[in-house]
This record gives sequence, structure tokens and C-alpha cells, in this order.
Amino acid sequence: LVQPISVFKGLEGVYVTESALSLIDSENGVLYYAGYDVKELVERSSFEEVVFLMLHQRLPTSSEFTEFLKLLRRSQELEPIHIETIRKYAGVTDILSLLAMLIVLEGRGKIGGNSNDFNAAVNAVAKMGSFFSTIIRVRYGGDYIPPRRDLSFPENLLYMMNGEVPSREHADVLDDLLILHAEHGIPASTFASLVAASTLSDLYSSIAAGILALKGPLHGGASEASYAQALSIGSVEKVPEWVQLTLSEKKKIMGFGHRVYKIYDPRATIVKNIIARFMGSMNSEVKKVYEITRALEEYGEKYLASRGIYPNVDLWTPILYRMIGLPADSFTALFAVSRTAGWVAHILEYWRENKLIRPLHLYVGERPRKYIPLELRTGS
Ligand code: CMC
Repeated sequence: LVQPISVFKGLEGVYVTESALSLIDSENGVLYYAGYDVKELVERSSFEEVVFLMLHQRLPTSSEFTEFLKLLRRSQELEPIHIETIRKYAGVTDILSLLAMLIVLEGRGKIGGNSNDFNAAVNAVAKMGSFFSTIIRVRYGGDYIPPRRDLSFPENLLYMMNGEVPSREHADVLDDLLILHAEHGIPASTFASLVAASTLSDLYSSIAAGILALKGPLHGGASEASYAQALSIGSVEKVPEWVQLTLSEKKKIMGFGHRVYKIYDPRATIVKNIIARFMGSMNSEVKKVYEITRALEEYGEKYLASRGIYPNVDLWTPILYRMIGLPADSFTALFAVSRTAGWVAHILEYWRENKLIRPLHLYVGERPRKYIPLELRTGS
């Protein structure tokens, strides 16, 4: 048997494609979307503009943006088949699984491989937002509220969820969070969506592959896990002992560590700066989680920083998610809504020079041997 030279576990350090979408400057701790510092985009741009940026790798002109917004907002409206599915399953499955189910449904009858299918890409982002809000609304006893075309994407998301137009502050916080999670190179979820897309599966099914890979606590599920972790620690006083015990048992602290960043995650810095603006208006639950998280960061860093393990964005985002009223089991699903922008942009980009993704494994099993019929087998 011919054996390859190396196995790259977890594809660590392996480049699988070229991309013009984002640059992670992990030495200086800066994240760029198509050349724009994400910090500046959070301060000056909007999620809607970032979706355009992802799809075209440039900012829109004013007339282009007007047309783009018309398409995006029109596409936010749900069809009876979506609403029926949400009514049937919202109380049965977790939000993320239902998002995957709904986006697959949206892809019914579609074919993949069209790298110019911008309308489908915009539709996918728009639908994901409305699916998210409507699932939550129905879970808590409400029913579908159609989006309003005079509201922005984050405003509509909260409006369709709560039935009230949100405050400017809440919509802005959500907009910032959506921008921050829109794109991040090729983590597991984006890779999963590219694997599906590379078979020329349709755009929507490829997004579903991404959604399901996002679910685990090592990736998108980390924010929910980090929130649950803070609640289970219970108080600031317990943090030092908890950190020591967790590390001595070789367990992981959720919201710490990253495959690419070996320094402080720049997105976490941005989230912390946003949190600082709202210190006065936190309710007691959020304030408690904030205090525990602060202590966790301090003690965690004390033990882990020397190994290049620092807080990541998911340590801090739960505070903002809860502050704007999102349920604690919806954080990963919101991440999926936002990251759909990155997934669709990667998929269209990949289809320009599609190549089936088909890696190899290094076989370490038995040598070839003969099959023995059941009645003749004597034991192992
Ligand atoms: N707490 C304690 N130890 C850790 C942590 C952590 N959060 N992260 C890594 N380590 C240790 C790990 O135990 C291992 O130690 P040893 O060499 O003694 O066995 C070593 O560091 C390498 O860990 P790894 O998991 O093989 O490293 P990786 O580069 O594959 O890790 C990671 C990346 C994100 C999977 C990992 O840091 C982790 O599991 N973090 C916790 C989950 C988390 O917060 N995920 C969100 C990532 S950011 C959002 C996103 O993009 O999805």
C-alpha cells in the first residue's frame, strides 16, 4: 500500500482554497472583510451593507444599495409553507435544527453551481433572519408577523420576534453583532458548506451543511455554552476555584481559545467596548453574568495566556445577546443568520472554479484478508 507522508489532523494549517472575502491578521489581531477593518465596519457600516460587500467584495453605490435593499427586504417575507413548518416544529426541535430544515425546504427544486446566483444568496440571508424571528415568536406562543419594508434587517429581526419596533440602541447592538459574525475565513461550518457546494448540491442545502456544523460547542455553540458556564459557576467568588478545578481535570473553558488567533480575539475587544456603553442599563441577571465573565477572563488568562489561549468572541457575546432580549438557546442560531452572509459568499466564490472536495485518509486497519462464513467462524 502507498502511504502519504503526513496527516493534517483537523486540517490544521492546510489551505483548501483562495478567497477574497476576509483576512485574519492573527499576529496583530485585526480582522478584515474584503480589505475593510471589521472594527470600522461595526462603527460606520450596517449588516445590510456588509452582505453586499461579501457578495461583491466592494461597497455599493447609493443606487446599487437602494436596489439591493429592495430585494433583501422583499425576500424577508415568508411563504405559507415556511409558516406551517415553523408552527409544526418550533416547540419540538432546537432553533438551529429547525433553521436547517427550513433552509433545505427553501432549496426545493433548485440546482447548484451558479456562481452568479446573487438573488438566491440575498434570499437565503433574508429568509434566515425571518425564520429565526418567527421560530422564536412561535415557540413563545405568538404567530408570524410579516416584516416591514421600512425597517432595517436588525430592526425587522427584533420586530418579527417581539411584535414591537425595537429601540435604536437594541437594533444597533444587533446590527454590530451581525456584522461581527458575518465572516471568518474557513472554520468548520464554512468548510462544511463548501464540501456540500463542491458536489454541486444547491446553495440552500450547502447552507444547511454549514448550519449543522456550527452547532457544536467547539464552534458556534460556544456562546450558549459560555453563558451556561457563567450561570453554573454562579458567583464571582467561585471563579478562581472553578478555573483551577476545570483546568486540573483537563476540561476546556468555553469562550477561550481559537485555532487561528493565538492572541486576544479582536472581535472580543469590540464586543467588550459595546458592552461598556451599556453598563448602566443591564438587568441583574446580565450584570451577574458580566461580573462572572470578567473574573473568568482574568483568572483564565492567568493560566492559559502563556500557552496562546485567550478569550474569544463567544466569552463576551452572551451578555449582549441577553441584553437585547434573545433567549439563551438562540445565540447559535443568530450566529447562523449572520454567518449565512459569509457562507453564501464563499459558496459563490468557490463555484467560480469548482473542484470537488475529496481528501484522503491514511488507512491504518487490517491488511487484506479472506471472508469467513458465519458458520465457520470460531472466535476473534
Ligand atoms: N480551555 C482550556 N484548555 C484549552 C482550551 C480552553 N478553552 N482551548 C484549548 N485548550 C488546550 C487543550 O486542552 C489542549 O491542551 P493539551 O495540549 O494539553 O491537550 C491544547 O490547548 C490544544 O487544544 P485544541 O482543542 O487541540 O486546539 P485547537 O486549536 O483545535 O482549539 C478550539 C481551538 C476553539 C477548539 C479550542 O480552543 C476550544 O475548544 N475552545 C473552547 C470552545 C470555544 O470557545 N470555541 C469557540 C471558538 S471562537 C468562535 C468560532 O469561530 O466558532
